[in-house]
Amino acid sequence: MCGVVGYVGDRDCTDVLVDALSKLEYRGYDSAGIAVFEHGTIKVDKCKGRLSNLVEKMAEEGKPDGHCGIGHTRWATHGEPSDINSHPHGNKRVTIVHNGIIENYKQIKDFLITEGYSFVSETDTETVAKLLDYYYNGDPMETIARVLAEIKGSYALGIMFRDFPDRIFAVRKDSPLIVGVGENENFLASDVPAIIHYTRDYYLLEQNEIAIVKKDGVRIYDVHKNEIHKELNTADWDVDAAEKGGYEHFMLKEIHEQPTSVKTTITPRIAEHMPDFTAEGLTKEELKSYKNIFIVACGTAMHAGMVGKYVIEKIARIPVIVDIASEFRYRDPIIGENDLMIVISQSGETADTKAAMEMAKNAGATTLAIVNVKGSSIAREADKVIYTHAGPEISVASTKAYMVQVSIMYLLAFEIAYANGKLTKEQCEEYTTMLEEIPEVIEESIALKEKCQFLASRLINADSLLYIGRGLDYALSMEGSLKLKEISYIHSESYAAGELKHGTISLITEQMPVIAVATQHDLVEKTISNIKEVKARGAMVILVCDQDVDIEDGVADEIIKLPHADQLLMPMVAAAPLQLIAYYTSVLRGNDVDKPRNLAKSVTVE
Ligand code: G6P
Repeated sequence: MCGVVGYVGDRDCTDVLVDALSKLEYRGYDSAGIAVFEHGTIKVDKCKGRLSNLVEKMAEEGKPDGHCGIGHTRWATHGEPSDINSHPHGNKRVTIVHNGIIENYKQIKDFLITEGYSFVSETDTETVAKLLDYYYNGDPMETIARVLAEIKGSYALGIMFRDFPDRIFAVRKDSPLIVGVGENENFLASDVPAIIHYTRDYYLLEQNEIAIVKKDGVRIYDVHKNEIHKELNTADWDVDAAEKGGYEHFMLKEIHEQPTSVKTTITPRIAEHMPDFTAEGLTKEELKSYKNIFIVACGTAMHAGMVGKYVIEKIARIPVIVDIASEFRYRDPIIGENDLMIVISQSGETADTKAAMEMAKNAGATTLAIVNVKGSSIAREADKVIYTHAGPEISVASTKAYMVQVSIMYLLAFEIAYANGKLTKEQCEEYTTMLEEIPEVIEESIALKEKCQFLASRLINADSLLYIGRGLDYALSMEGSLKLKEISYIHSESYAAGELKHGTISLITEQMPVIAVATQHDLVEKTISNIKEVKARGAMVILVCDQDVDIEDGVADEIIKLPHADQLLMPMVAAAPLQLIAYYTSVLRGNDVDKPRNLAKSVTVE
């Protein structure tokens, strides 16, 4: 949700900013812009649309020439995507880029108008730029501190003051921001992939810490000008992890990375074929002590939570409530001291998930975060953290992050079930060993990609389609459906197969394909009855099932037979073909697979 970058050093600043922004486009791509000090003045270039538009514009009109500057890629909140609303904002004296939302911008704007300021954009950001200008007294630190005392909301800001052409300033609250530390050059970025080409070392800025970034060093202060000495973090990501590595799209690359990501995620949490979360500080005594478990997340992460619910309830016999974070926050949930709240988030920055977690903490519940991005806000604020090790996920449509989240849900379920005596040690070992073997099975299911490509060709002309399933297959079909709709733009819903005849079946015609997921042996017969019901009404049916299930001829128009695994683990096997069907449908429809319209990967606003 907006990407912020900055650079100070000997390289061509424009080139570095553009390169860094290209790694952050997953955070929004409604517009792009940069501001660079050129011969002591701030030169701004910005325009609506993708970063490539800005690059083209600068190729025609000339690019800023300098060594110190800031940049931005936007996901529009206040004001439509347009040249005028693009960041940077400000005037000749102060120019800024911003990720977040300033909640009280209207009051500030009204005040500044009475003070003689005029505004050109509809953005909340412009008010911050002008407020900085209003308070500017020659001392940037003091000016920033005064502004921070007045603005409410979330922000990651990159700031340039005309009077200080050798440095950029940075501050954050509730939106992520890191300061990359190189040799005789330093960086600013919303996320590690933007700087990993140049340096692996970075500082994580904490709430309202102000960084002064110069070529020869970085200094960080609190709002009272006390210097803070922070620990340097080192990114352990492979430099190539943020590149496509020969794949046509990041999404395809990330689908292929799933077996490795799962292995890297589960291996450190398994000791002698038993789950082991001692490094995360999770003891068996603690895990068996909870009365209820809440799983709260958004989007794909919530779907991973749905799988978690089925698995934990099935084998650990503890009630699990799964909620969408934006709903949980406002429904006055009954949660308290004896409850465990698991939040799942790839980015660790999703505003609603974070707020839901804070609510649970305040209610006395223990919070456990399953997060991919190290040092992210949710990871820092949770009582306990389990990091997934998927590496950077660049494609907006999540694939490998989902898979590793699900793998952790399984391991946790095994551990809880063993802790509370619902699984014997032998049974727990057996399940854990099966999970250890699952990366190879996922590999086999990815090998079904040609079949998935063919199935996609049967879907591309549909206006609408339906995913159906029961139990774990229903949880999985929610994710299959979301994946398809978000990147193909075909309307799609997932439905509990048994619920179809209570209304939705009236939508079934020859024009409405149905994808039926039936990997659960004990439910397959029931789902097949539902398939027959929709087929009888003309639907083209694609059946996704375990290769070991006996399916009579003609039940479905197309069948995709999955490599075998224990039925409890089948969601991890079936997920990749569903992702691949969505992927190829999007490709065949000519869409921008990695950057679907209107979406952003990291949603830091409510
Ligand atoms: C956005 C992304 C989804 C993601 C959701 C939650 O909508 O496009 O892919 O599942 O946010 O993000 P999180 O980072 O909390 O997992």
